Amino acid sequence: MRTRFTEAFGVAYPIVQAGMSWASSNVALPAAVSNAGGLGVLAAGPMFVEDFRAALRALKQATHRPFAVNVPLYRPRAGEVLDIVLEEKAPILIASQGGPKQYVERFKAAGVKCIHVVASERHALKALEAGVDAIVVVGGEAGGHPPPDQVSTLVLVRAVAKAAPEAILIAGGGIADGAGIAAMLALGADAAQLGTRYLATREAGVHDAYKQAVLAAGIADTALVGKGLSPIRMIANRFSARYLESEAAGADIEVRRGIFAQSSLKLAALEGDVDNGKLEAGQSAGLIGDLPGAAALTERLVDECRSALARLSEFHIALEGGLQRNLKRVF
Ligand SMILES: Cc1cc2nc3c(=O)[nH]c(=O)nc-3n(C[C@H](O)[C@H](O)[C@H](O)COP(=O)(O)O)c2cc1C
Repeated sequence: MRTRFTEAFGVAYPIVQAGMSWASSNVALPAAVSNAGGLGVLAAGPMFVEDFRAALRALKQATHRPFAVNVPLYRPRAGEVLDIVLEEKAPILIASQGGPKQYVERFKAAGVKCIHVVASERHALKALEAGVDAIVVVGGEAGGHPPPDQVSTLVLVRAVAKAAPEAILIAGGGIADGAGIAAMLALGADAAQLGTRYLATREAGVHDAYKQAVLAAGIADTALVGKGLSPIRMIANRFSARYLESEAAGADIEVRRGIFAQSSLKLAALEGDVDNGKLEAGQSAGLIGDLPGAAALTERLVDECRSALARLSEFHIALEGGLQRNLKRVF
């Protein structure tokens, strides 16, 4: 499976395991994915700086294939984390939630490939202008932080592919199987990034109750919480209901900020509080029904993607056959 992404990053398959705070803030998940031929991503977000360095070193030992580290740039100690990425010579940086200008030159000069996460066409073009090697474009279905304007993956990925056809584009948000990956390739993407799907794996570093909540959720069971703040998509629960009630009642933004701050992803991920925690997950939770190992999942995604592409090429052949029949009729 060769795409511009696999060629540029030396990865066997056009599959990226999304950086997810807590869920991929461990060695097991990214190592399993990278060893299976996808791109595993270590999420620095919630980690103490020195724990991050230790995990990065361990990950280098656990796989000899390319992997990436995800650094949300808004975090208080993001600068120190970026320094460690350089010192430890991680092969690929995936930066999110901040501008690319602050790191691109330095990282490229050091030979670290730079991928930037965006959620709008405008930010995609800005990141490319700043010189990043690839962009992750995340649409409204996504778990975690979807675009504030909620434009869907189908529309946003297509818009960016048309606006920047030369860019290496990784599509994210709502993709849970190989058919979804094939659909993104059809839109013009070079790879797909899957978050919620890899959250429901044995290696994901979150509480089992959280994983079970993902498995139990239907496609319409997520809630968008925090409009006007920093919106997150999560599985609806007692916390999201309380927050959305206050929003519907017209509560002042400061009141809503207070309710928003009373919950956290950590509460769900570490303590398994599925009623009061922020159970970040995307709409694709409703497409997920099992808890495989991450390597087996990656292999399955490749098989499914191949089947989906073969199905499309059958349409193509059938279409050509139909065309010939029509031509015979005409002439
Ligand atoms: C539990 C969870 C935690 C996340 N944490 C981060 C993070 O630390 N950094 C980041 O850039 N994106 C984070 N995201 C977003 C993912 O990287 C990815 O863009 C998103 O999950 C893709 O949509 P999907 O869940 O529909 O596959 C998180 C998503 C989830 C579900």
